[in-house]
Amino acid sequence: MIVVALDGPSGSGKSSTSKGIAIRAGWNYLDTGALYRAITYIALSIKSESHQNILHELASRPISFSADPKDPKVFVGDTDISVEIRSHEVTSHVSIISAIPEIRAELLKLQREIIESAQHGIVVEGRDIGTVVCPDAALKIFLTADIGARAIRRDAELAGASRGVEEVGTSLSERDRIDSTRAVSPLEPAFDAVHVDSTELSLDETIDRIWELLKERSLLGLPIVAMLGRPNVGKSTLINRFLGRREAIVEDTPGVTRDRIQYECEWGNRRFIIMDTGGWESKPDGISVQVSASAEIAMQEADVLCFVVDSQVGALDEDDVLVQELRKAKKPILLIANKVDGDSDEADAHSLWNIGLGEPHFVSALHGRGSGDLLDSIVKLLPEVGNAQVHDGYRRIALIGRPNVGKSSLLNALAGEDRAIVDDAAGTTRDPIDELIDFGGSTWRFVDTAGLKKRAHQASGTDYYATLRTETALERCECAVVVLDASVPISEQDLRIITMVEEAGKALVIVMNKWDLVDEDRRDQLDKEIERHLDQVEWAQRVNVAAKTGWHRDRLAPALRTALDSWERRVPTSKLNSFLGALIGATPPPVRGGKQPKIFYATQAGIAPPKFVIFSSGWIEPSYRRFIERRLREEFGFAGTPIVVAVRVKERENE
Ligand code: DC
Repeated sequence: MIVVALDGPSGSGKSSTSKGIAIRAGWNYLDTGALYRAITYIALSIKSESHQNILHELASRPISFSADPKDPKVFVGDTDISVEIRSHEVTSHVSIISAIPEIRAELLKLQREIIESAQHGIVVEGRDIGTVVCPDAALKIFLTADIGARAIRRDAELAGASRGVEEVGTSLSERDRIDSTRAVSPLEPAFDAVHVDSTELSLDETIDRIWELLKERSLLGLPIVAMLGRPNVGKSTLINRFLGRREAIVEDTPGVTRDRIQYECEWGNRRFIIMDTGGWESKPDGISVQVSASAEIAMQEADVLCFVVDSQVGALDEDDVLVQELRKAKKPILLIANKVDGDSDEADAHSLWNIGLGEPHFVSALHGRGSGDLLDSIVKLLPEVGNAQVHDGYRRIALIGRPNVGKSSLLNALAGEDRAIVDDAAGTTRDPIDELIDFGGSTWRFVDTAGLKKRAHQASGTDYYATLRTETALERCECAVVVLDASVPISEQDLRIITMVEEAGKALVIVMNKWDLVDEDRRDQLDKEIERHLDQVEWAQRVNVAAKTGWHRDRLAPALRTALDSWERRVPTSKLNSFLGALIGATPPPVRGGKQPKIFYATQAGIAPPKFVIFSSGWIEPSYRRFIERRLREEFGFAGTPIVVAVRVKERENE
């Protein structure tokens, strides 16, 4: 279950944004402000500010919240007070009541109950969600906006009931002040929250920004495609065909569902889970036909159902049972006719229309015929958010470096004795070679740590496997920690590893380990090596540590946070273009062949890593691109992340 915490002052757009995200993701929604307003309503109804009296009253008239983002409601006892809690009277008292510690403690329990009862995910908005209510939230957003913008929005919301923008602004400022300065859980950003300033963003843009983060961090469930059909119709061969060579057995779930194996698959930029079901058979007595438990569960969990038939055998009577079950599931169904190896087979296979599941999709799993078209058809049926929760929100870190630089010691220094191999991965694609490690106030997922044996003996085998391992770890991580041995010269291999990180587009922190062995001479030498070899990743933060003694191990967490923050940063288009305008004005692009390319505008096309596209009338010299990149970094930071600057040539501005 995914929790998104959305904190921020009044009028920053929290409610509309939270609801928008919850609706789009099919998640629940909790407006904690409504709970504080409800208890204020109770306090006003008994005309008391004493917490004993209020809590006594609450016991007989409990507050409840219906968590549907399309129609959220708050009740006191059986009475719907969703409208009443927005009154001027409630609004002007809520900050005082919500500052009472006993009241907060009581509502904290209620909030946690509501959150725990959510199914797939919940977006929770408030003031202290990321800091107090859900410090483990998978994504924390701190949404702000200028006071002016907030007052205008609130004024519009209040419509006729407003007392004018100015007064709304004053009242907002006053509430901000009380909410931020109270002793118990004041309004403040969690240290690991992503700050989003909505002043210049529309509601849709704000939602898109957060959606982008959810997607990037794989917090939205991936769609599940179940492969169903009798044994030996070629389901597994077909799945192998889909996966290509990268066969990633994700997990073999124990128990009844042992034969449902999940694979992560990607096609046409969409990622999804393919679920192989062991097949189903008629009972040995041959009379009653039963859909196997695994197929049944797969049908419930999956978002798209694929029914695979061996076209050379055709549909059998016993297929009818499954077909009926498939129909009952009321999910998109795709009929796959396998073993269609040539045109003549295809003609025969047309009889499969009779099954009544629509058009059969012809494919030869063994030879690959039609498999691309089939994947296209599958991808078209995928919902945006599916049922497979792949990630839990822990930031994914890869620890890489050549042998004997001290990766394992570093891991141990960070974790203390608490290295925990992750093996709680029911129904997900979490990898059992990951370790969850707590340090610096967060839990981190160190991916693919199986290569980091606790004993020092390291890959004695070929470089090939080491490279492969590094590639896998890089592919799965968000930020790479490259460990160098500071006591010896930086080697070719070290640089190759750093280049791999850059090319993979991941955030990077360089750890200079064995700092205890670095004396003054070595220091001078190292400075020169850094200048000579690491200039291409000048943006990467370097942390000097001595893993053996634990010296400076506390420096890593802040460096990781900075790097990840930069990696996911988005620069608003307006800011980007005013920056670019000033830059071009002061230093125009160089003239080439008598012509000066005109730069029209730029946009940030993506995050993780940040990618910028500049639209221009002609070719831009690499040196000028590098200049833009350098200035972009000076202006907007991006410490710890590679950034990509691409130029797209357009003939005229309005194309
Ligand atoms: O979001 P809102 O404006 O409806 O919230 C009303 C008040 O409730 C707000 O002024 C502060 C308080 N509140 C709080 O203290 N903690 C929360 N998690 C949510 C709201």
